[in-house]
Formats: sequence, C-alpha cells, structure tokens
Amino acid sequence: MVSAQQGKDHRWFAALWNTISIPGERRFGRQIRQRLLGDLDGRVLEIGIGTGHSFAYYPVDADVIATEPDPHMLKRAQQRLAALGSPNIELRQASVEQLPFEDASFDHVVSTLVLCSVGDQSRALAEAHRVLKADGTLRFWEHIRNDKSRFWGRFQDLIRPLWSWLGGGCQINRRTQRAIEVRATRFAYSARPCGTSQIPTVSRQAGKYSSRNACVNRR
Ligand SMILES: C[S@@+](CC[C@H](N)C(=O)[O-])C[C@H]1O[C@@H](n2cnc3c(N)ncnc32)[C@H](O)[C@@H]1O
Repeated sequence: MVSAQQGKDHRWFAALWNTISIPGERRFGRQIRQRLLGDLDGRVLEIGIGTGHSFAYYPVDADVIATEPDPHMLKRAQQRLAALGSPNIELRQASVEQLPFEDASFDHVVSTLVLCSVGDQSRALAEAHRVLKADGTLRFWEHIRNDKSRFWGRFQDLIRPLWSWLGGGCQINRRTQRAIEVRATRFAYSARPCGTSQIPTVSRQAGKYSSRNACVNRR
C-alpha cells in the first residue's frame, strides 16, 4: 500500500519533476548516471528514486531495491518500472532516515539529488552506512553550496526558502559534500565537480571503510 509519509507528500513537485529535470538530464544527468550506475552488481539500494530516472542505467546483474517515501513520486516510478519491465528492480516505500533493511545487507547505496531534501541528513548518512556491507560503496550525485564564489553561495542562501517551497523541500545551499566528509572515518571518498559553476554538484562513490576504497575509487 502507498501511504503519505510524514512531510514527504509533494504532489505538484512529483507531477513536474520529469519535466523540470529534462535540461539537467540532457546536459549532464545521463552521463553521470551512466558513470555512477553502469558497472554496478550485487545488492543495490537506491534511496529517493523519485520518478525513476535511474532505472534505465542499472545493469541486469544488479539486484536493485529502489525506495521512495513520497506516494506521488512512487506512483510515477511504478509506472516507469512497469513500462521498462526490469525484473531485477523492486520498489519499496521508505524514508532513508528509517530504512527497513538489515545491517550490512547491500553492496552499494545510491543517492542522486536526494541528500538536499532529506529531513535529517546526518541520520540519512548513518542509515546508508548501517545497511552497507564492510566493503560497500555509497554512490552519489548531489548539488552543494557554492563556497568558492561568495556571490553564488549567498545567492543560494537567499533563495533557499522559496526554492525549498517550490522544490519539494530541496535545500539548495546544503554542504552535502562536507556532511559526507564529516563521516570520513566511515566513508572514504573523493568528489569530482560537475553541474554548473554557479550551482556545483558532486558525483562520486565513497567506500564504507577508508583507504582501500579511496584508491580503488579514484578515476
Ligand atoms: C529532486 S528529487 C530526485 C529524485 C531522483 N533521485 C532523481 O535523481 O531523479 C528528490 C527526491 O528525494 C526524495 N526524498 C525526500 N526526502 C527523502 C527521505 N527522507 N528519504 C528518501 N527520499 C527522500 C523525494 O521524495 C524525491 O523523490
């Protein structure tokens, strides 16, 4: 059953997301998704799948559980999945802060444009870490506050309330890269810039435990 989860019920944002995201998907999203997901295998958990942009990029070898708390997004993801007919992908309704999965049960956790919107980012990262196996990786593509430009950083601060209202709770000025760095004892990572120079995004994979993955993951 699909139910509205607390604070995760953005009917209009869900209805518009496919259209709003077309320019970004064309410009860099497709390439980033291909790079992040194209070589995955084993058990994969994607958090906040939205309308299912990532579905088409998963290899058939990956055994994927895609989660989404918002019933309106979930409905669209279900439709896209039915049209694609990918038997290796299963959809579940869940918030990342409270994942209904066992500890150390996934080889990879995937997050694309989600950590900006979650209510409790620190808990979300802790949950991602909990469900990952010891040698698992977090693969992410997230936009971040532009700390390199005073103007654009402040611009992001300024528009945050309106942006959040329009964008399903998205906090455009979040320092998500730093939040992952704070968990550096658990996630080893390096980020590569992408997106626009005004509103940067980072895409990367992060190993659950440090040095080995830091090397393995460098591209
Ligand atoms: C900007 S959309 C991105 C959707 C999708 N990941 C993509 O790349 O197209 C943000 C998504 O994060 C989801 N989200 C928000 N809060 C969440 C939470 N606490 N746990 C999991 N997903 C969440 C929203 O419902 C929405 O589907």
